[in-house]
Amino acid sequence: MAKNDDKVPDSVAQDHAELSQLLHHHSTLYHAFDRPEISDAAYDQLFQKLLTLEMQYPALTGPESPSQRVGADPLDKFSPARHARAMLSLENAFNDEDLRNFDQRIKRFLSTDDEIEYLCEMKLDGVAVALTYHNGTFVRGATRGDGITGEDITENIRTIGAVPLRLTDPAPAELEVRGEVYMELDAFRTMNKQRRDAGEVDFANPRNATAGSLRQLDPRLTARRPLTISCYGIGHLSSELPTTHRKSLEMLRDLGLRVNLTDTHVARGIEDVIHCYQMMLGKRETLPFEIDGMVVKVNSLELQRELGEKSRTPRWAIACKFPSRQEQTILEDVVLQVGRTGAITPVARLRPVNVSGVTVSRASLHNWDEIKRLDIMIGDTVVVERAGDVIPDIVQVLTAKRNGSEKEIKEPATCPQCHSVVSRAEGEVVPRCQGLRCPAQLKEALKHFTSKSAMNIDGMGDRIIDQLLRLKLVANVADLYKLKKEDFFRFERMGEILADKLILAIQKSKEAPLERLIFGLGVRHVGTHLAKVLCRHFESLRAMEQATFEELVAIHEIGPQVAQSINRFFSDPNNLTVLRQLEQLGLTTRSSAHPTGNRLAGKTFVFTGSLQKFTRNEGQALVEQQGGRASGSVSKKTDYLVAGANAGSKQSKAEELGVTILDEEEFLALLDEKEASP
Ligand code: IVH
Repeated sequence: MAKNDDKVPDSVAQDHAELSQLLHHHSTLYHAFDRPEISDAAYDQLFQKLLTLEMQYPALTGPESPSQRVGADPLDKFSPARHARAMLSLENAFNDEDLRNFDQRIKRFLSTDDEIEYLCEMKLDGVAVALTYHNGTFVRGATRGDGITGEDITENIRTIGAVPLRLTDPAPAELEVRGEVYMELDAFRTMNKQRRDAGEVDFANPRNATAGSLRQLDPRLTARRPLTISCYGIGHLSSELPTTHRKSLEMLRDLGLRVNLTDTHVARGIEDVIHCYQMMLGKRETLPFEIDGMVVKVNSLELQRELGEKSRTPRWAIACKFPSRQEQTILEDVVLQVGRTGAITPVARLRPVNVSGVTVSRASLHNWDEIKRLDIMIGDTVVVERAGDVIPDIVQVLTAKRNGSEKEIKEPATCPQCHSVVSRAEGEVVPRCQGLRCPAQLKEALKHFTSKSAMNIDGMGDRIIDQLLRLKLVANVADLYKLKKEDFFRFERMGEILADKLILAIQKSKEAPLERLIFGLGVRHVGTHLAKVLCRHFESLRAMEQATFEELVAIHEIGPQVAQSINRFFSDPNNLTVLRQLEQLGLTTRSSAHPTGNRLAGKTFVFTGSLQKFTRNEGQALVEQQGGRASGSVSKKTDYLVAGANAGSKQSKAEELGVTILDEEEFLALLDEKEASP
C-alpha cells in the first residue's frame, strides 16, 4: 500500500479518531466489564480498518493506538523505573489466629472497639506491575523491582490486550495504578501444549510463564503470550481519591481498567473475613486462574492513611496464604506411556502424597531432556507442585537426600507395548514407536488408515472402529481385510445391509492406488504429498522397502529426517509382516504414478467438469504414468485442460489464457497417439 507522508486530510483524521474511539469502547466493554457487545470477528474487522488507515497515513499512529500492541523493536536491556510511591509488600497470615491478631493490632492503633470494615480480594499469583497514565494515555509500565525502583517494561505491557492504552474520559491528569499480570489456566495449558508439540521446554507454572514473558527483551515475543491483568490499587492519583478502597476499584473499572469486582467482598469485622477466607479457599479449584491466597484491606481510605505503613508493609493490609501446593515425596518408579501417535513419554509414579487436599501419585516428567535437566533418579526425594497443569510437576530433586540406592532412568530401546525397536530422531525430545502392530496406537492408526485421504473405507467411522477393538477383531490394519460379514453381526445395531456395505467398502479399498496405502500406513513425516512423491520414484511397495537412506535423500523433497523415518518404518520386522499380509490380501502394491513412459513429460494437465470415461484421479494417474504433471488449477503454466460436462470457471480461465482444451475422447486419443509414436 502506498504510504502518504503528507499532511493527513481532516476527514481521514476524523475517521481515524472515531474508529479509535469505537475500538476503545468495545475493548473496555470486553476487558473491564466482561460484557462485549460485538463479536470478536466484528472487532477484528474494525481493527483491520484502523490498521489500513494507519498504513496509508503513518502519521496517524500514536502511542495509544490499538495497533501498537504488536510489539516494538527489541531492547538491549530494561531501563530503571522509579515508582511514584514505594510498591510495598504484604505481611502474611497463615491461620485464623494471625488474622485475629491483625484485627486487634488495627483496633489498638486506632484506639477503637468498633468493628472494622475490610475488603477481601483474591491474591492472584502472577507478577506485580505499576502502570502510569498521563492525561489518560498509557506512558509507562514497570515491574516492582526492590519496591522503590523497578524495570521499565512499557513496550511489553503495551502488548497486553487487557491494558488500555487510553483511559475512558474524563481521565485524571496523572494516575499510577497497580495490578497483577497473570495467565489464565486454559491459555497456559494451550501454550504449554504448543511448546511441547514444537519440541520446546514447557513452563512449570503460570507464574513462571508470566514472569518469563514480561522479561522478554523482544516485545514481539511478549505479544504472543496469553497475558492478562487485574488491577488492585492506586499508587498515585492527581485528583481526589474516593472514600473507600472498594470505590477506588470501581473508579479504575470505570476508567476502562480490568478489575476483579466479582470476587471482591466487603466484610464487617474479622470473623466475617475468616468466613470469606473459607469461601475463597473452596472456590480456588474452580477458578480459571491461580490464586495463592486472599488479601484483606481496611476499606476506608481515611483509616488506611491513619494506619500508615511500617518499613516494607502497610499496617492496613495482610495476605492470608492458602495451603502450599508443593509437597515432598519419593519417586517410586517411572512408567512409559505410548501416546496415540507413538510418542513414548515418561510418567513419574510417586509415593502418594496429599498436596493441598488432593492425593497425588503421578507427575509429568515430559521427556528425557527434562529428566536430564532435573538430574532425577528412581528413589529420589522430590518436590511436587500442583500448578496450572492438570497433572502435577516435579519442580525439584533433593539430591542431598540420596543414599546411593537410587537408580538411573533409562531411555527405552523398545516400545513397552509392542516391543518394536525405537529410537529418538534428531531434534525430537521423545523416542517414537512406529509399530503397525502397536496396540497403543491401533485406534488412531485404524482411523487414519480408513480415512478419506487414505484408503477411504466408507462407513468405517469411530463407532465401528471402537467395536472392532472391543471385540478384538483387529490387531493391525491387515486384519480389516480378513473380516467376514458374520463378524459384524456381533456388533450392536448392525443389520445385513450395513454389514454388506462395510465388507464391500473394505474390498473396494484394495484397489486404491499405492500412494493412498503409503499415506494410510502413517509413516512419520509422510503425508499425502510425500506418499505421492515416493510412488513416483518407486515402482512398488517392495522397492520402497528396500530403498537405502542415500537413495531416499537423493529424491528432491526428501530430507534426512524423513529418509530416516521411512527407513526405520520399513526395517521393523513387525511392520514387514503386516505389509506382506496386505500384499497377499490383494491390495495394490504396485505404483501407478511411477512413470511407465515419458510421453507427457513436461506437460501440465488440469481436469474439470463431470467426467464419464474415467475419474479425475484416474485421469491424473494416467498423466503421471506418462511423466506429466496434474494440477488442480489453471494457470499460465497449464498445457491442457481436460473438460467434462458442465465445466465452469476453469474452462473460461483456460480460454482466456489460450490453454488447449480437450474433451475426454481427445485426451485418450492423445495418450494413444503418443503411444503409437516411438
Ligand atoms: S495489595 C500495599 N492486592 O501480592 C499493597 N496485592 O505480597 C500491596 N497481589 O506484590 C499489594 N493480588 O503482586 C494486593 N489483590 C491484591 C493482590 C496482590 C496479588 C500480589 C502483589 C504483591 C504481593 C504482596
